[in-house]
Order: sequence, then C-alpha cells, then structure tokens
Amino acid sequence: MAVLDFGSQFNQLITRRIREFGVFSELLPHTVSAQELKDSNVKGIIFSGGPMSVYDEKAFSIDPEIFELGIPILGICYGMQLMAHNLGGKVEPAGTREYGKATLEITDRSAELFTTLEKEETVWMSHGDYVTELPEGFEVTAVNPHCPIAAIENKAKNFHAVQFHPEVRHTEHGNEILRNFAFNACSFEGNWDMGQFIDLEVDKIREQVGDRKVLLGLSGGVDSSVTGVLLNKAIGDQLVCIFVDHGLLRKNEGDHVMDSLEGKFGLNVIRVDAKERFMSKLAGVSDPEQKRKIIGNEFIEVFNDEATKLEGIDFLAQGTLYTDVIESGTTTAQTIKSHHNVGGLPEDMQFELIEPMNTLFKDEVRALGEELGMPSSLVWRQPFPGPGLAIRVLGEVTEEKLEVVRESDAILREEIANAGLERDVWQYFTVLPGFKSVGVMGDGRTYDYTIGIRAVTSIDGMTSDWARIPFDVLQKISTRVVNEVDHINRVVYDITSKPPATIEWE
Ligand code: XMP
Repeated sequence: MAVLDFGSQFNQLITRRIREFGVFSELLPHTVSAQELKDSNVKGIIFSGGPMSVYDEKAFSIDPEIFELGIPILGICYGMQLMAHNLGGKVEPAGTREYGKATLEITDRSAELFTTLEKEETVWMSHGDYVTELPEGFEVTAVNPHCPIAAIENKAKNFHAVQFHPEVRHTEHGNEILRNFAFNACSFEGNWDMGQFIDLEVDKIREQVGDRKVLLGLSGGVDSSVTGVLLNKAIGDQLVCIFVDHGLLRKNEGDHVMDSLEGKFGLNVIRVDAKERFMSKLAGVSDPEQKRKIIGNEFIEVFNDEATKLEGIDFLAQGTLYTDVIESGTTTAQTIKSHHNVGGLPEDMQFELIEPMNTLFKDEVRALGEELGMPSSLVWRQPFPGPGLAIRVLGEVTEEKLEVVRESDAILREEIANAGLERDVWQYFTVLPGFKSVGVMGDGRTYDYTIGIRAVTSIDGMTSDWARIPFDVLQKISTRVVNEVDHINRVVYDITSKPPATIEWE
C-alpha cells in the first residue's frame, strides 16, 4: 500500500495502522509518478491529509495519471478534497473550521469502507475546506451536520474518500475503515511481517550504498544497535561503527554491547575508550546543565576525531525513528535525505544520510530487533540518558561516586529481573545524592552516603508515575545495596510522580 504524503502529522500513523494488519505500507512523497507506483506493483493508494487548501498557490498536487492506473484509492481529508478537485468536483471553505469529535451518519452501509460499521459513528474531524459538489461517478456515503458530504465513493473506479481521519484513535472504528479499504477494496491478504521488512530494507540499502562505506555511531541503545545489525546484514564490513565509551555507562554495559554486536553479530566496531577525556572535562563541575553540555560537546569531539581518521566513507547512518522525524519538524522522510553534516564535522567530511528506520515506531523497532535475532537485553533496553551516570551522581562526578552508582544500579537491575518486573517498570535506576547521614552497623556508628532508588511507569517519559515495586523486592534491594556497596548506609525510594518531579534527579 502506498500512502502519499500531503504533510499531515498523522500520515505515518496511517502506514503504521496498515502494517498492523499485515499489509506492507510505505509513506511516499506526493510527487511520486504514476509510472513509479505501477513499477512497484502498488495494489492500493491512500492520499493522506494535509494542512493546505487545494486552492493554495503552492498546494500539493499529484500526477493526474494516478487516477488512470486502475488501482483503488482512499482519500483522507485533504486527500478527499484533492481527489474531488482533480476529478471535476468542487471544494469550498467550510464557513467554520470543524475540529474534534463529530457524529457521522452513514447513508450507504453497502459502501466498501462501511460494510462492518453502525449507522452512526463517532469520528475525528479536522478541516477548513470541504467538498461541496461531487465529481462524476461518485455517490455520497456518509453525512454530518457540518459537512453534508463527509464520505464518497465511486464504485466503478474503486475510489473512496472520507473527510474525517480514520487513522486517529478518536475515530472509534477508524481501524475498521482502513481495514475494509485494505481487504475489501484492495484485496490484500494480510501476510506481510517484519521478516519481509528486513528483506526489503536490505535490498534498498544495498542498492543505495553499492560498494561504498557507511559510518554509524553506536550508543548501546536500542535504535543505533538495531540500525547496526540491520546494516551489517545488508553490507557487512562496508559498515564501520564507532562506539564512544565515555565511561558513564552502567556496569559491564560497554562490554556487553561489544560482546553482542561485535562478538555475536560480527559488526565492525571501533570502541573508543574516552573515559579519561570525559572525566578530566567534568572535574570540578557540579551544575547539571553544565555537565550535560560538556558531555554532549565532548561526545561530538571524540566521534569526529575518530571519524576523521577513517577514509572513504560516503554515508552516515543514524537510528532515527519516525517520532524523531516528527519532533525535528520534518514531516516527510524524503526531505531529510539531502547531504547532512552532523555535529560539526569538518566541512570536507560531508556524508549522505542513511536512516533505515525512520518510518518505524519504537515498538516496531523492537519487533525488528527480535526478528534479527538480537538479545532481549539490547532490544528491550530501558531508556538511558546520553550523559549516562554523570547525571545520577548529583553534583561533582568522581570515579568513586560513579562506582557506587554503578554497583547499586547493577543490584537494582538484577533484583528487578529476578522479580520478572523488567517490562512492567519503564525506567529504573539508582542515584547518589551527595549527603551523608548517620547509621549503625554492627556495634559501630556510621556516617555515610544514601542511595536513592527511582523506578517509574510511563508511556513516553513526558509524564510518569512511581512504580509500585513490591515491598519484598525493595527489601532485598535495600539489604543488598547496604551490604554490598561500600559507603552506603541508607536506601530511600522516590515516590514522586512527574510532574512535579522529573524522572532523573538532575
Ligand atoms: P526527565 O528527567 O526530564 O527525563 O523527566 C525524561 C526522560 O529523558 C531522559 N533524559 C535524558 N536523555 N539526555 C538524554 O539523552 C539527557 O540529558 C536526559 N535527561 C533526561 C531520562 O532518562 C528519561 O528517560
């Protein structure tokens, strides 16, 4: 299924919903030609929504030959208006913008999109224009008080269009509408899976890269690791990875990344032991934002130093996900393919960018990693901040303090795993606030540091709640931390949600 991109924020959601039905679907620029669609054996086309009016001077248009291909088309919002406009109908401003939930009255329940729906449905509208006159051959299939032509169909041509957004969850049976289009109108079978995504991406990468070389920065995180394994599958040793080990990772994490990616998957990885460089820059610094800045800058410097030593690299790969594409304000994958100069690399080191996962959502990346045979410790790795443990040692970072956080964090992780809670808790770690308190051990008074445990549930890290870890698990963690980690005589559990607190303590 080809989803043509007219700039709506929701358009990748459409492709994702279709993929969930087991139908391969891809977001393509609206400039794609009819011939290209034909050549790639497209069996169904969706025109996405978009912010424009068909009458805007620079309105996105399409190759009109697309209507002659004999391929079923579904127009959504702007896509519906574009279809009507192109085929001889009329589009006009709607008087008042309609935005939000609306009731749809389906007037033709034999329409392909609506065969499984009720007469009245709740849908999500977001439009300023609407269709006021039908193109030839079309019938109205649904209405709404504010939008008398809310859905249309041309049975003979197998063209369908809706003014509302079926891809948005607020449209109660939106998934069913998309499913009806995919299975009824386009006759897909629904047997596509991640394995086929891999085959397709591997072919694409091979074609793009040829016999040239690709550079990838590995962080040990899910996104860059999966990108590395996928690229390695496609081009093997033509991929060179740089793993900047800043010494601020969790216990054994750097070794684990190497064992897995280099050892098991055979990636060509240059591990840069840059701990000394980072620690010397961090000496005497206690302000959290200052620490972040130093680490960020140093990271780029180390990466660049290593990259400059390499020769003949043409591409830079990145584990960009679709959510990153949205966040950076680029709604279509196509516009970011141009030459790109990352992080202040020297002028003469210009790379072409490869982002094989920029159409995927996080859970799809995890499914991809699993399909590639990656261990769950990498695929299900919890979010970990770029500045690493440096922001979990409050105040100035020293090697001794890092060691305390590393050891206590390792115990926490082990006990969470033993209790089978790894996937229930979104993020969990220990922090070392810089104060000392009084305790008693054996016969003696102690005056030592406190460890804080932070464990949260969340969807995206924007908000979070503290995780209700069972008391007996907390008990084990507390006992082990005090017994096994030097200089700790007290363990506290953070029971603040975000907001008002943040997840990290710095
Ligand atoms: P906060 O502490 O802002 O954290 O509630 C939300 C999520 O972001 C992570 N985090 C960072 N990630 N660089 C990163 O790459 C950072 O400087 C940084 N600060 C916080 C944090 O771990 C949590 O998942």
